[in-house]
Amino acid sequence: MARNFLFPQVEGLLHGGDYNPEQWLDRPDILEKDIKLMKEAGINTVTMGVFSWAVHEPTEGNISFDWLEPIMNRLYDNGIYTILATPTGARPAWLDEKYPSAMRCDDMGVRNHHGVRHNHCMQSPEFRQKVQIIDTALAKKFANHPGLLMWHISNELGGYCYCDTCKKKFQEWLADRYDHDINKLNKAWWTTFWSHTFNSFDQIEPPYANGENCVLGLNLDWKRYNTWSATDFMKFEIMTLRSAGAKEPTTTNYMEWFYDYDYRYMSQFIDVISWDNYPESHNNWQSDADHMLERSFNHALFRSLKPDKPFMMMESAPGVVNWRPYNKYRRPGMHKLISMQAVAAGSDTVQYFQIRKSRGSSEQWHGAVIDHIGTNDTRIFKEVASLGQDLKKISEIAGTMADNKVAILYDWDNRWAIDDAWALAKDTKNYDKTCLEVYKEFMSLGVEPDIVGSNDDWSKYKIICAPMLYVLQDGIGDKIALFVEEGGQFLSTYFTGYVNKDLLSNLGGFPGQGLDKVFGLRSEEIDTLYPEDKVTIKIIDKAGLAPHSINVYDYQEMLRDVSADVLAKYNDDYLAGTPAITRNEFGKGHAYYVACRTNQSDLEFLYREMLDHTGIVYSKLPTGVEKHTRYSDDSAYDFYLNCGDDHATIKKIDGEDIISNAEIHGSLKLDKYEIAIIKH
Ligand code: GLA
Repeated sequence: MARNFLFPQVEGLLHGGDYNPEQWLDRPDILEKDIKLMKEAGINTVTMGVFSWAVHEPTEGNISFDWLEPIMNRLYDNGIYTILATPTGARPAWLDEKYPSAMRCDDMGVRNHHGVRHNHCMQSPEFRQKVQIIDTALAKKFANHPGLLMWHISNELGGYCYCDTCKKKFQEWLADRYDHDINKLNKAWWTTFWSHTFNSFDQIEPPYANGENCVLGLNLDWKRYNTWSATDFMKFEIMTLRSAGAKEPTTTNYMEWFYDYDYRYMSQFIDVISWDNYPESHNNWQSDADHMLERSFNHALFRSLKPDKPFMMMESAPGVVNWRPYNKYRRPGMHKLISMQAVAAGSDTVQYFQIRKSRGSSEQWHGAVIDHIGTNDTRIFKEVASLGQDLKKISEIAGTMADNKVAILYDWDNRWAIDDAWALAKDTKNYDKTCLEVYKEFMSLGVEPDIVGSNDDWSKYKIICAPMLYVLQDGIGDKIALFVEEGGQFLSTYFTGYVNKDLLSNLGGFPGQGLDKVFGLRSEEIDTLYPEDKVTIKIIDKAGLAPHSINVYDYQEMLRDVSADVLAKYNDDYLAGTPAITRNEFGKGHAYYVACRTNQSDLEFLYREMLDHTGIVYSKLPTGVEKHTRYSDDSAYDFYLNCGDDHATIKKIDGEDIISNAEIHGSLKLDKYEIAIIKH
């Protein structure tokens, strides 16, 4: 595949992070020292200005970048590029004092006091006016600066505001969505139930904690509206920069498992995907290897949001974070493993929060490349510097691309709707976890999946797994049918196809939109199990390839009208003897249905069968080892990461490890946390 460089002016991968020299303006010696240390650590980029509004504009209208310009120039002279942020993630005191509408209202409609960050009202006209002024000034000053790589819009956009301005915007957004026809909205939200009918759009309020919050359509549309509102704010900032002459690419830093907004919608409007990766390494409930796979899933999601270019790991912690209930330092070697995993999964950057530790306030104990001691001989500095050297060694990775043929379908609407549905068990719905578990199973077979949405392009995939696809977006039934008909392998599970995009139940049997024909079955009941309930299923005709009996957890669905081949049947309880797992031949492909929740590892036989149908090459990896592949025009780069606690041996390797420069033909031995990148 052709390489696609994010920043053609930079040789190789980016290594750097958030840098806040505004905290040290009275210490020029520290700034000088930082540059020296950054170079020593192989750092070639910094992100500046993320929370600098009060320094840029200490009092209203009094804007000056005299502090920033010489620093940016000095960094550039030393080979260090700048990613410049708009400073809108936190507001100066003067702004909130004079324009209280900038402060967000909580879910009871009560206005916040000044303080903290990430809590502005994105629709406040006064706030936007101030944003426009500062962003324009920034762009006029720094656009086209040779050291400027890109614009970082605000910081970790998130949350909802329940003020009157937002209420009005929500009403307008709804009027647009429902063609200004309140009856259309009433129908979609099924408001006749409990006499919830609205007479006009201006009667509708956000789902206040003490107001209307059990109309499910309203709750879902509120989340969709907030996605629109945050995107609208982000677009407003981008447009402001562009109108002031900025041509550099834009990004905004996303967060793991982020719930508030549908990132897929937002991503259409920015140039590059970036995200903040904060693993909880060495935790006390799972192995590091298991935890790393969770990271990997997130990387895959962010990679898949813009599949035609590498993404950026915009932040990660050198050493430790300070905001978790328990803040454990990364053990030696873990830093490199986490950083290389990002690169393996498609990131062209390893960036940190933060380069230098702040001396005071709430993040003074958060990890940094340069600690309070200020020297190059701390353990963390040395690990960062060693990684810096490795990143230079593997600079040919920059611009290479993933090319996966398996995908997990994972939708925000579906996440929200499942959580809000008054069904199943409150504590065990676990949609995210279910998708993650499927991802892990493919990873254990050495096959990395992408993460796609219902409306994405599926044409390159041979296998798609769509666990718990409760909400069927318009046209998705036909899309799945076509995918399978043309030879795709598609897997669904219990709780699939129950409702349409408005959350109205599909009539005429589940799964709706004609999927009953694709799967060759209908589902009639979904039963919730207590943790102590004992239900098993029996696999048919897979002697030696699958476990004879598999435990069922949380949910079992009763199937009917089954014309598909039955691969497993229930053993126990009232469904004993009825189908539990099926496979339907449909056109040139197969549609699999797993009607109950099991450990995914018990379904390995099924995933192997799906892979066998496609010809995708796979091979079981040793426990704890991850494999990711990136491609250039003429080479493939297989990344092997040993995330486990023991050494591991991977067989049938043929190529050159571009980290150690060793030719490997045969077995590859990796120590704990060791990484190899095999070029072939
Ligand atoms: C987030 C923010 C940073 C910093 C880090 C700390 O990712 O974007 O400003 O607060 O968390 O982990």
